[in-house]
Amino acid sequence: PSSVRRDERGRLQVAGVDAVTLAAQFGTPAYVVDEDDFRARARGFRDAMNGAFSHGADVYYAGKAFLCTAVATWIAQEGLCLDVCSGGELAVAMRAGVPGARVGLHGNNKSAAEIEAALIYGVGRLVLDSFDEIDRVAAIAASLGVVAPVMIRVTTGVEAHTHEFIATAHEDQKFGFSLAGGQAYQAAERVLAESGAMRLLGFHSHIGSQIFDTAGFEVAARRVLDLHGRVEKENGVRLPELDLGGGFGIAYTSEHHPRTPEQLAGDMAAIVARECAAQDVAVPRVSIEPGRAIAGPSTFTLYAVGTVKEVELGGGASRAYVSVDGGMSDNVRTALYAADYSCTMAGRVSDAAPMLSRVVGKHCESGDIVVMDEYLPADVRPGDLIAVPGTGAYCRALSSQYNHVPRPPVIAVRDGVARVIVRRETIEDILALDAL
Ligand code: LLP
Repeated sequence: PSSVRRDERGRLQVAGVDAVTLAAQFGTPAYVVDEDDFRARARGFRDAMNGAFSHGADVYYAGKAFLCTAVATWIAQEGLCLDVCSGGELAVAMRAGVPGARVGLHGNNKSAAEIEAALIYGVGRLVLDSFDEIDRVAAIAASLGVVAPVMIRVTTGVEAHTHEFIATAHEDQKFGFSLAGGQAYQAAERVLAESGAMRLLGFHSHIGSQIFDTAGFEVAARRVLDLHGRVEKENGVRLPELDLGGGFGIAYTSEHHPRTPEQLAGDMAAIVARECAAQDVAVPRVSIEPGRAIAGPSTFTLYAVGTVKEVELGGGASRAYVSVDGGMSDNVRTALYAADYSCTMAGRVSDAAPMLSRVVGKHCESGDIVVMDEYLPADVRPGDLIAVPGTGAYCRALSSQYNHVPRPPVIAVRDGVARVIVRRETIEDILALDAL
């Protein structure tokens, strides 16, 4: 987070609270989120989009990156909308009092109960993902006597340059209606034919996550706008909205160079204006769905070192295995996507020589790695605190109780004050699920 510095004792400090104090007060491991940093990134996207699109735009924070009641409240207060993709995430939005009109529901297999809950809450949009779902939503909306506002998710066929498991718009994957295969157009016709139960807002495209290359967004936007224009003209309708998804990459290490929200929004506005002019259609209201780019950089995970072991690599080289008190249960991204993290000593500085280190967790498998390669001071020892930055997105959200290790709390820090926004799980919480 932007407020991080070292104090005169060499301790990391975030929003005026130092890491040693945080560890003593809340224990480790813990996710520490800089509330102002999170809010500023949310506002940054909102302002950039409103600046680039003269008649307004919407930013849906993708709650899948990290969601809890406090975060949903921040998002609403900063004037953003919230993208949820399950009944559980919808329940958070409801508990935080996010107005229904500012919530969008995603998912490739929404249950009838989730659809019903969303329609009763009055969500602003359901993003449809299959023909089965079109029928299901039409039936549920009719039975409730409401008209469901819907968007159609389009598979644009763009190969996003990211890890295969998080790319979502190439043809051979589960999301969306294929554009090339004609299903996206047919889906629009089906929805338009159900005008008593559904109102077609427009199309939705999301090409993947942790993307830096802008060409993918551009091609996807062009393709989806071509469809948008054809559906408008050939059916004599006006589609008021267009969602270009999320996926904006963040810097996990110094090798990544993300673009600013202003650059992203400016490029998007230019593409949309150009394509709409070329097709002679009205410019729809554009929305985007950043998750990682808002949540990710706002947070670091604070761990305590338990053991240090030196392993010979041959040729005189060696590596230190530095074991911390969490691991793949609180951050599975290294194991799952070969994600690249860095880390730093959080409780002190040292002038000991740098030593090639691997930060590993406490779980029972060798893939339990948090930071693959990092140079830590050679005197790193049990009790030292380690901070891993950039863990605000898809860490707590993908956490597990592997090995019955309780999940860490989330601590929000602002103006020198730290507070728990998600409490630490306990072994009792885990045991409570076991039926006797
Ligand atoms: N919109 C839709 C429809 C999505 O599926 C996603 C992410 C987003 C927005 C937000 O994408 P973001 O701006 O956060 O990149 N667990 C993986 C990432 C999975 C992303 C899933 N969908 C990871 O840890 O890298």
